[in-house]
Amino acid sequence: MAQINKIGVIGAGNMGSGIAQKMAQEGLNVVIVDLKQEYVERGLNTIKQTLQEGVDRKIIRPDRIDEILSRISGSSDFNTVADADLVVEAVFEDKKVKTDLFKQLDQICSEKTILATNTSSFFVHEFAVQTSRPDRFVGLHYFYHPAKNRLLEIVPHEGTSKETLEKSLLAAKLHGKTAIIVKDSPGFAVNRFFVPFLNEAARMLEEKIANIPTIEEAAKRAFKIGMGPFELMNVTGIPIAAHASATLGNEIGPFYATAEILKAQMEKKEDWPLTGKVDEDQISTVVDRFYGVCLGVAAALVDEGVASIEDTDRGAKIGLRWTMGPFEIMNQIGVAKTFKVVEAISQKYPDFKMPKLLAEQQKLGKPFAFSYVDLEVKDQIAYITLNRPEAMNALNKTVVSQLDERFREAENNPSANAIVFRGAGKAFVAGADIRYFVNKIKADKIQDIIDFTRDGHELFFRIENSSKLTIALLDGLSLGGGSELALACQAVVATPAGSLGFPETGIGIYPGLGGMLRMTRFAGPELAKYFVMTGTVISADDAKALGIVTKLVKPSEIETAIHDLVREGVSDKYPSREIPANLKPYAKMYGNENVAKLLAGQTPEGVAGDIAAKAAKIIASKAPIALRLVNQIIDRQAGKSVPEAIEIELAHLGEIFSTADALEGLSHMGSKRPEFMGK
Ligand SMILES: NC(=O)c1ccc[n+]([C@@H]2O[C@H](COP(=O)([O-])OP(=O)(O)OC[C@H]3O[C@@H](n4cnc5c(N)ncnc54)[C@H](O)[C@@H]3O)[C@@H](O)[C@H]2O)c1
Repeated sequence: MAQINKIGVIGAGNMGSGIAQKMAQEGLNVVIVDLKQEYVERGLNTIKQTLQEGVDRKIIRPDRIDEILSRISGSSDFNTVADADLVVEAVFEDKKVKTDLFKQLDQICSEKTILATNTSSFFVHEFAVQTSRPDRFVGLHYFYHPAKNRLLEIVPHEGTSKETLEKSLLAAKLHGKTAIIVKDSPGFAVNRFFVPFLNEAARMLEEKIANIPTIEEAAKRAFKIGMGPFELMNVTGIPIAAHASATLGNEIGPFYATAEILKAQMEKKEDWPLTGKVDEDQISTVVDRFYGVCLGVAAALVDEGVASIEDTDRGAKIGLRWTMGPFEIMNQIGVAKTFKVVEAISQKYPDFKMPKLLAEQQKLGKPFAFSYVDLEVKDQIAYITLNRPEAMNALNKTVVSQLDERFREAENNPSANAIVFRGAGKAFVAGADIRYFVNKIKADKIQDIIDFTRDGHELFFRIENSSKLTIALLDGLSLGGGSELALACQAVVATPAGSLGFPETGIGIYPGLGGMLRMTRFAGPELAKYFVMTGTVISADDAKALGIVTKLVKPSEIETAIHDLVREGVSDKYPSREIPANLKPYAKMYGNENVAKLLAGQTPEGVAGDIAAKAAKIIASKAPIALRLVNQIIDRQAGKSVPEAIEIELAHLGEIFSTADALEGLSHMGSKRPEFMGK
């Protein structure tokens, strides 16, 4: 069973200190090693400073600093990582330094230790073969700043074992990284198109196609980014861009080679001058050239099997913070237009060939279709992964229909005895795609929302009644539709990071995918009203006490728990149980009389004054019509079968989505506190 208890990070520089910080922040024990104690101290000070900045920006609670730091120890003695489960190397980008280090680590470290390199420009296999454990060797390519940027490229080389890849994925999950799996190839996935983006900017300048401000502006518009390539190079270092393109040029071909003007700028040791006037007339030429290069390279890397189209997009969105990934951009501007701009690049640079993938898609005349739900069968268990971590796996029409397809496949697969639903990245599933609702309301197509919800209900009902045991793996937060999916499963395996929550009444609507009917079956109508009306997060502990969570385990015990559950089976999903003591006051506060008081803007009775006052305040901040409907629906669902209760939830969707409050709440979600008018 995969276990990761101790991690070593070698090199306490920019990357190493950030990697160690992130690991400790997420609860892992880490030892950071550098050549001298003073370098270690410098790294630890960097971590302290970055944490303090987090406190100043109110991202980290002050009391967490000591707790985080207590999980990091520093040393100049390499033996301290001997018993680590994983050692991540982040030393100088120098082949000999890294090779010598890995030979040394291979001698020191125990059999179980996985060695990982954070190299940006060398092949992973070159280091792996220098050790006696190429099967336990992998690339883990982080992005600056590694404590802030969530992307992690996991780079197995040909000899990396399946177990090592699985452990790497677990390690990624344990320290809050969104992992994409990438082939051991020059620039891996993200730098493969990002470095040419920088280089092409320099080439356009060299060719006098446009001045720097025009190129900056065109890049910002093309990729919807805040910083153009020249400013980015100024911030991250012109030599890094020059060296990275030189490496790609040497490994792949002259199309990638460093622009002369970029080399010259590096030698001048000066920043690019950014001021000047934007020439609107040249913007579209520059945009087309950027698209030709970046989209062309993205298609080429997928052709070569470096990464999937989905992971390439994820890399751009999470690693580079582009609003859209290359393939989403291709769909937006159209595959025909993409083909044209890439063709222009392949004519300009003869060693850059038109990628097959793009040529075929152009022939098909269709946009790229993305796969967001994966199915894998392992040890007789089907794992269905909602894989859209960039959107916290939110449900939309495409995701729900793919979920439906994968579920059918899993049900029909004779080698799968049970079906586990899980989310990629840190969250399980964070609700539904709000933009979809807003667009439908604005287009006066609320019936589409009702149809979409009915399909979701039908799927969740099948999940609840499947002849194969269905299990939600709740190892991160879930909200709205995600919590409803978890509630529909026949069992839930959770870790302490798992949670449920119904924020709907705070955005003008109510949970429409069975949240009310299933919460009532688990917790009774009073607590169902409490959680749904207030949006209070249900912790893994409370969910366990309420019977929602079947097994609450540590992350390393998940697989065992799943197998135990499959062996034991689930006899009764909704057994009646006592209301847990800590929730009793809330059950009292959401009894019929008190709910009537709360809805009338009064303070509930029979509970401690502070709790009652807080409840009144929370209720006052929610959408009044949504609250009233929640109250009515839960009452009307009493004593009804699940299909009848579903119809009651569906019956009011038209009404709630037609309210001004729904549009107000949904359109401002995450940006401002909605002002509900009760209409
Ligand atoms: N900076 C980035 O944006 C970035 C992004 C991804 C990957 N990387 C890669 O990460 C690695 C580290 O980069 P960085 O920017 O943190 O470098 P850095 O120069 O800031 O830090 C390197 C650290 O490694 C230490 N070191 C050198 N040799 C060592 C050895 N044999 N044993 C122990 N410690 C040793 C140095 O003392 C130094 O503290 C490089 O391979 C780089 O290519 C960097």
